[in-house]
Amino acid sequence: MILLLLLATQIFAYDIPEQVHVAVGAYPGLIQFTWSTRQSTPTSAVRIWLNPSYFKYYYGISNIFTSGNNSWVIHTANATLYPGATYMYQVGCILTNFSQIFKLTVPPSTGSSSTYLIYADLDIGLNGNLSWAEIENRWPQLNVDAVIHMGDIAYDLSSDNGAWGDTFMNSIQPVASSVPYMVCVGNHEDSDYYESYLARFAMPNNQFYYTWASGYVRFLAIDTETIVNQFPNMTDMIDYVEDVLNRPQADKEAYPWLIVYGHRPFYCSSLEKKGACGPEAQLLQSALENLFYTYNVDLYVNGHVHNYERTAPVYREKVMGSGGSGNIYIDPLATIYVTTGGIGADGDNVDVNTKIVPSWLVAQDENLSYSILTVFNATHLVWQQWETGKDRTSDEFWIIKGLSAFAE
Ligand SMILES: *[C@@H]1O[C@H](CO)[C@@H](O)[C@H](O)[C@H]1NC(C)=O
Ligand SMILES: *[C@@H]1O[C@H](CO)[C@@H](O)[C@H](O)[C@H]1NC(C)=O
Ligand SMILES: *[C@@H]1O[C@H](CO)[C@@H](O)[C@H](O)[C@H]1NC(C)=O
Ligand SMILES: *[C@@H]1O[C@H](CO)[C@@H](O)[C@H](O)[C@H]1NC(C)=O
Ligand SMILES: *[C@@H]1O[C@H](CO)[C@@H](O)[C@H](O)[C@H]1NC(C)=O
Ligand SMILES: *[C@@H]1O[C@H](CO)[C@@H](O)[C@H](O)[C@H]1NC(C)=O
Ligand SMILES: *[C@@H]1O[C@H](CO)[C@@H](O)[C@H](O)[C@H]1NC(C)=O
Repeated sequence: MILLLLLATQIFAYDIPEQVHVAVGAYPGLIQFTWSTRQSTPTSAVRIWLNPSYFKYYYGISNIFTSGNNSWVIHTANATLYPGATYMYQVGCILTNFSQIFKLTVPPSTGSSSTYLIYADLDIGLNGNLSWAEIENRWPQLNVDAVIHMGDIAYDLSSDNGAWGDTFMNSIQPVASSVPYMVCVGNHEDSDYYESYLARFAMPNNQFYYTWASGYVRFLAIDTETIVNQFPNMTDMIDYVEDVLNRPQADKEAYPWLIVYGHRPFYCSSLEKKGACGPEAQLLQSALENLFYTYNVDLYVNGHVHNYERTAPVYREKVMGSGGSGNIYIDPLATIYVTTGGIGADGDNVDVNTKIVPSWLVAQDENLSYSILTVFNATHLVWQQWETGKDRTSDEFWIIKGLSAFAE
């Protein structure tokens, strides 16, 4: 036994896990850990301290992922933990070596306020690095419970035989190892037919469309690529979306906020991305807007266009009710649409349309920016759009709902 251990140590010792990140699983408290090593290890395990003097191993599986001359063993393991609790953990192999010690906070269940860092289209070029450095600096103060990155990850995960993806995954590790890093597909994940994306991320249900809940929020991730490319052939996802949105009363009570996210916009004004804001947005509207309206989706959040925009409550291009030209929506009558694709994708598509301003458009920002959403309770949430390098928000809005029910 000792000999075996020694042998294993000799063969695998230098293979320290990297690209460590976590995601929520199929139910609150289920956490999926993912990491990479160059070689296969005899076991894939997470060592979690359940209290300061007691740790437990959780075992998982591994798969080989090869992209040109770049080959990784990608490991994943699940653990059911307490929502809202903080743990120390290591990932690796019980016979060879473990990673450094990481700290993870599991998103809270219903009954607690919660905060999310939200963006799409993040590169590791000049702009992306500027925003990312700021986020890492602010991280200890932000008290974020989960990150949501709505596609176009790294530009591209598969570039340089995946070496670019490796650099990206290591650069987000300090954040993505400490709270769930939830992703969905964008058009750039399609550049290697989703292979890198599928190998590197584990999500609940599947990596294209899934639901999870945290704080007072039920989230739903959708795959806008399939809709834009195959409309109207996408019954599987549409059925799933309706299933999640048409939820039982108990789910509505536990998670009164319903937030959907995907890569592409349903509403945007960009002139540079005429297709995305025109015919493609209309396809998405045809596929899903009725469901959003019927089942009272509060917010739809997307990227793809590299700026920030926010709409009034809108349905079929019409502002519903008194709308909301200000910063507070009270009991909005339709979904509010937010584009937040401006965190840093080097290049174009930052222009908002200032010439023809659609009636439903309320706020815009072309500068580098990212979003912080705080859901306080069943009645109040606030969205803040932070401008990179400026120490200020360019937009802030509140949604307040259901107060009359509480007054009774
Ligand atoms: C495990 O990795 C650390 C570096 O993180 C190294 O110092 C240590 O020697 C390794 N242990 C074994 C048993 O290989
Ligand atoms: C982890 O849980 C998810 C469900 O959320 C499941 O799909 C996946 O297969 C599990 N992974 C492992 C390694 O057991
Ligand atoms: C793959 O090949 C490139 C170009 O020859 C080289 O720079 C890189 O280090 C190689 N990657 C690996 C993992 O061997
Ligand atoms: C951004 O940061 C990564 C490391 O996280 C680095 O590899 C990359 O070269 C940086 N990009 C620029 C343009 O400096
Ligand atoms: C939709 O499915 C039909 C029948 O299989 C097929 O003929 C058509 O080309 C598909 N359309 C798209 C856009 O994929
Ligand atoms: C971008 O930032 C500049 C300088 O701070 C500011 O003048 C401008 O209004 C901002 N643009 C938008 C669209 O908010
Ligand atoms: C909900 O949160 C808001 C904002 O913090 C607060 O003003 C309000 O009193 C809270 N409502 C309840 C019922 O706790």
